[in-house]
Amino acid sequence: LKTDLLGEIATATDLAAIEAIRVRALGKQGAVTGLLKTLGQMTPEERQEQGPRIHGLREAVTAALAAAKTAFEAAALDARLASETLDMSLPVMAGPQGSVHPVSQVMDELAEIFADLGFAVATGPEIEDDWHNFTALNIPETHPARAMHDTFYFPEDKARDGRKMLLRTHTSPVQIRTMTAQEPPIRIIAPGRTYRSDSDATHTPMFHQVEGLVIDRGIHMGHLKWTLETFVKAYFERDDIVLRLRPSYFPFTEPSAEVDVGFTWVNGKRVIGGGGDAEGGGWMEILGSGMVHPKVIAACGLDPEEWQGFAFGCGIDRLAMLKYGMDDLRAFFDGDLRWLRHYGFAA
Ligand code: PHE
Repeated sequence: LKTDLLGEIATATDLAAIEAIRVRALGKQGAVTGLLKTLGQMTPEERQEQGPRIHGLREAVTAALAAAKTAFEAAALDARLASETLDMSLPVMAGPQGSVHPVSQVMDELAEIFADLGFAVATGPEIEDDWHNFTALNIPETHPARAMHDTFYFPEDKARDGRKMLLRTHTSPVQIRTMTAQEPPIRIIAPGRTYRSDSDATHTPMFHQVEGLVIDRGIHMGHLKWTLETFVKAYFERDDIVLRLRPSYFPFTEPSAEVDVGFTWVNGKRVIGGGGDAEGGGWMEILGSGMVHPKVIAACGLDPEEWQGFAFGCGIDRLAMLKYGMDDLRAFFDGDLRWLRHYGFAA
């Protein structure tokens, strides 16, 4: 039996044949299995003689089957490797690629421009409490500016002071968060999302602002003006930028100024640079600014006699529109790749 089985294994031609031999020899009804069962009926003397022979047979057949199986598997693998070749010189198939959204790109540009002027980037929560968004910024409960902000309030959530939580209406609360968290001198910009209940071609309920804040000794309007001029020139990449500071009012700055930038008409479109009061030009409002109100500095626990500063706030989406020529703010938040492609922001 042993010679027969080993002979069959040696001449088997594939894995299926090996498996068939295994079943015939070692399966439940197999020949070797049958011999093993006879051991139970033998006398101890017979068993002592036949036992090692039968077990030896089983081991020899098992080993031969395993060796044959391994050999066939290796051969199959070799064949597969030979037939499947991989050409490493073929060009890679390009998958879809993401790209940077114009708003993100402008935020990056702003961070870079202001980093050169020594400003760090600060952040604050989009869900704010009343104190940071209004009260500390010298906008008390009764102030009409609260109504002007079209605030989204959370109906349930109340802060520790019992006032409703809200979606910040501007990035100015980051001024408060920065002044209460770190010692002057302070030079930060704070870009981020802001919210007001408002929607048309130039307003979306969610929009982006960048706040600027400088607190130090002896800061005056001249520092504000120089900083804004340097920033606007760098951002629009033009030296012929003209700015106009118009007296204005914000509760958290005194004096306050709205800042216009001069534009000229080019092919029926407004282009930033030159212009202003000159022939064929005009002014476009780009930001609000002013000297930080002493009450705001005091609300943050600083002495307004020692520390002064300036602040400004600017719509990022608007900055992007002016630089890259978009005309509908709503399209910024539609996620339409055709629109992004049209303005060169997606592949
Ligand atoms: N927070 C003001 C707004 O949203 C802008 C501003 C910021 C004005 C800082 C002055 C100083 O309109």
